[in-house]
Amino acid sequence: MNNLVHKDAIPKFTGKLKRPPVFYRQWMLAGNPALFFDRLVEDYGDFIHYKGLIDFYMVNHPELVNKVLKQSNRNFDKRTIIYKRFKNVQGSALVVAEGESWKRQRRMMQPIFKKSAIEKFFDIMVDAPTNLAQTWTKRADSKVVFNIAEDMNHLALEIIGRALFSNDFVEMRDKIEYWTSILNRYSAKPPLPIIRDLWFPSPRNFKMKSVLRDFHRFLGKMVSCHRQSPNAEGLLGILMQVTDEETGECMPDQALIDEMLSLVMGGHETVATVLTWFWYELGRNPEVEKRFHQEIDTVLGKQPISPEKLTKLTYTKQVIEETMRLHPPLWFENRNVKNDVELGGVQLKQGDMVVLSRYSLHRNPQFWHKPDKFDPGRFDKDKPENSKGSCAFIPFSSGPRMCLGMQFATMELITVVVTIARRYRIIIDESDKHEMAAHLTMSPKYGVKVRLENRL
Ligand code: HEM
Repeated sequence: MNNLVHKDAIPKFTGKLKRPPVFYRQWMLAGNPALFFDRLVEDYGDFIHYKGLIDFYMVNHPELVNKVLKQSNRNFDKRTIIYKRFKNVQGSALVVAEGESWKRQRRMMQPIFKKSAIEKFFDIMVDAPTNLAQTWTKRADSKVVFNIAEDMNHLALEIIGRALFSNDFVEMRDKIEYWTSILNRYSAKPPLPIIRDLWFPSPRNFKMKSVLRDFHRFLGKMVSCHRQSPNAEGLLGILMQVTDEETGECMPDQALIDEMLSLVMGGHETVATVLTWFWYELGRNPEVEKRFHQEIDTVLGKQPISPEKLTKLTYTKQVIEETMRLHPPLWFENRNVKNDVELGGVQLKQGDMVVLSRYSLHRNPQFWHKPDKFDPGRFDKDKPENSKGSCAFIPFSSGPRMCLGMQFATMELITVVVTIARRYRIIIDESDKHEMAAHLTMSPKYGVKVRLENRL
């Protein structure tokens, strides 16, 4: 336990850059890339220069990750072939923006995502899982087996959709779900040059372009409706009224459209997969489940849930954090070297690519005791293994490009799991077949098959 990371003491990187043979295990990248990267660090350590179809440096040590994302972040940007593909979908949105336009968008959007500001969406976060729990009554009585991943997917979309578009979301729900699934599938494809560019006449590109047109048309209509009723509720209405403190200007229509699309995509699948993995881990760890249920019963009793009560659910938060440690939804990050820079004693050149896998970083045995064990207690703030603040645990990334929706997602995750678990125990069915899939997000390949048991 000597090496465990504490937030005040990130151990120094003392290793050396390793170079695997050219094309080493390249075929694994096409199957499950997260397992490919994990094998790479297992065989070659925490700093690797890989040459294959794509040439990259991989970092798996918190100190190196810290340097790329935080300390030396000015020397890195997102101009990589992978982000180019995301840009095809998300246009000028914050997550893919660079330089001055990123700074301006972030400055304008940051206040809207502050903890105090997002509390206005709390009612939606309670209402949506409460409605879902009501529809589950029959399933609980008949002990039917179902795939909870599908329900978590609908639920997460409902919450972000209603937060963005208020009631307009409800009638467009099925279309938005279809559009986001196509765009996610497009974004998750490997960035091979031949299929990367949108001009290439592949069926996937045609489909993606036609979906993007329909989605843009819908968002454009939303924007012009909201312009006519300036007090409209929802994030869109709020974003529309924000002015840049430096220039006094509002967001132009196209910027609003890109941000809306990006927020639906960024705030949907990420949350849905954490929720799915949460039930999966809870079902496999009865001691954790017992303590989680005890905490909700003690803190809430028969009282309604409220934002103040959420802060008292400390163990629940630890279970969510441990879920994101083992199953980080956005498991992969990459950066372009913008200016020549030194990293781990090696001189990187402009145009080099640096990658990291959260799946491997969060399981690095140098920093996590028994890394594969599901142990929420490691996030107890008084434990030496609590690595918050270091780059050993970065489900929401770190540094200036850190997730803007972190507070929103955290409030949503706690509210949803508590609202559902007050009513039901979720039991993993024997028929559940488990395999991890790593595309844009990391999810259970076949979902999670469960049954319900009433708790009330
Ligand atoms: C558990 C849920 C979530 C996780 C794990 C997560 C994780 C992340 C990560 C890792 C990034 C950095 C991605 C990159 O640099 O390519 C990011 C960026 C971002 N996320 Fe999230 N996210 C979650 C939910 C949300 C939600 C609910 C929203 C909005 C409502 C959101 C909005 C954003 C935005 C706008 C950015 C771009 C920030 C920037 O580049 O300045 N995320 N998120």
